[in-house]
Amino acid sequence: MSEYTAPVPGLDAAEVPEPGAVTIVVPTFNESANVRQLLHRITESVPARLPCEVVFVDDSTDDTPEVIREAAQDCPFPVAVLHRAKPVGGLGGAVVEGLRAATSEWIVVMDGDCQHPPSLVPELVAAGERANAGLVVASRYIAGGSRAGLAGGYRVAVSRGATWLAKALFPRRLRGISDPMSGFFAIRRSAVTADVLRPLGYKILLELAVRSRPRRIAEVPFVFQDRFAGESKSSAREGFRFLRHLAGLRTASPVARMVGFGLIGASGFVPNLLGLYALIALGVHYVPAEILANQFGVAWNFLLIEHLLFRDRRAHRRWWDRVGRFALLANADLVLRIPLIALLVGRFGMGALPATALALVLTFVLRFVGTEALVYLPRRRRGPASAR
Ligand code: GDD
Ligand code: MN
Repeated sequence: MSEYTAPVPGLDAAEVPEPGAVTIVVPTFNESANVRQLLHRITESVPARLPCEVVFVDDSTDDTPEVIREAAQDCPFPVAVLHRAKPVGGLGGAVVEGLRAATSEWIVVMDGDCQHPPSLVPELVAAGERANAGLVVASRYIAGGSRAGLAGGYRVAVSRGATWLAKALFPRRLRGISDPMSGFFAIRRSAVTADVLRPLGYKILLELAVRSRPRRIAEVPFVFQDRFAGESKSSAREGFRFLRHLAGLRTASPVARMVGFGLIGASGFVPNLLGLYALIALGVHYVPAEILANQFGVAWNFLLIEHLLFRDRRAHRRWWDRVGRFALLANADLVLRIPLIALLVGRFGMGALPATALALVLTFVLRFVGTEALVYLPRRRRGPASAR
């Protein structure tokens, strides 16, 4: 049993398992009522078939680390607890830490609440060896698997929706993965690239599959069991994290980001035109109504762009600097657009609404190009920090 804190030194040489062994990475957050049972089930089903070590990456505020330490004394394999003082990246960040710390040829990631059966660990590795795969996903959605332990219709619907959305956004990358939301999988250490080791993704399997898709992927069915004790830590907040994560993965390339720009800009029509409709209905003249309604669209676009598109590129400017620049661009855009609308309305006899829609299309492209260049493009830095 060893306890270490970041920066992570390797496990003791005496504890490094032989090749073909597995490091089981278990993220834990307040699982004191589950970890003893988990270690017990691992002891029963893994070491006789495959040499193993277990690394807990713990963000608990309860006594989970102490319970692990005590229970580890009965384990015939090394157990380490990596307790993080700062829970950077939550569950996903914890798994990344575990992947970093792992020393075996194979790494299996599984939950600490006994919803993932440890008896499957040797099978996952064996399937990977047989298929010469880099990644083996334990799936609830192939024959022989089930999501029995997914509590309640709401969770089932959310899980199904998330799976569908991920597969719709990444049809090629996720081909052959029926359960991209699974938190139970085996990965070859060589298939974990440095690129992936960013403590960023919440759904780490999705991150691994999309960013460093291993050459071959295998799947093994499993039955998602009931939690042994306690409650799920997933929340609406995690749901939003997941959506942001999907957006971040999907808009990693410049072309995809341009499309994202376009979609967000297009979605800004809705608050803009609704505001305009309401203001005109209230009897406001269309020119001041345009100016006011534009603010709805601007605010809407800014929020979406900040949270979905440039989440990782905000640090080099303070928020008020970004708001200021964004607002300035939007106003320049407005200065350009109002005469354009006036022209379309006055000269070409268009209605205020269609004229606005057309002017919006013409100017949002300019605005987004300006936004990328002037608000979110990192300033040129000297030294190795700017190298990627
Ligand atoms: N270190 C750390 N930090 N661990 C965490 C954190 C965190 O912030 N949040 C949750 N965990 C741990 C839990 O202690 C547990 O061991 C594991 O991550 C899964 O958390 P649960 O709260 O039990 O999640 P779940 O059962 O709702 O979701 C599981 O199934 C989903 C599929 O429906 C997870 O495996 C998900 O990744 C998976 O998508
Ligand atoms: Mn769980």
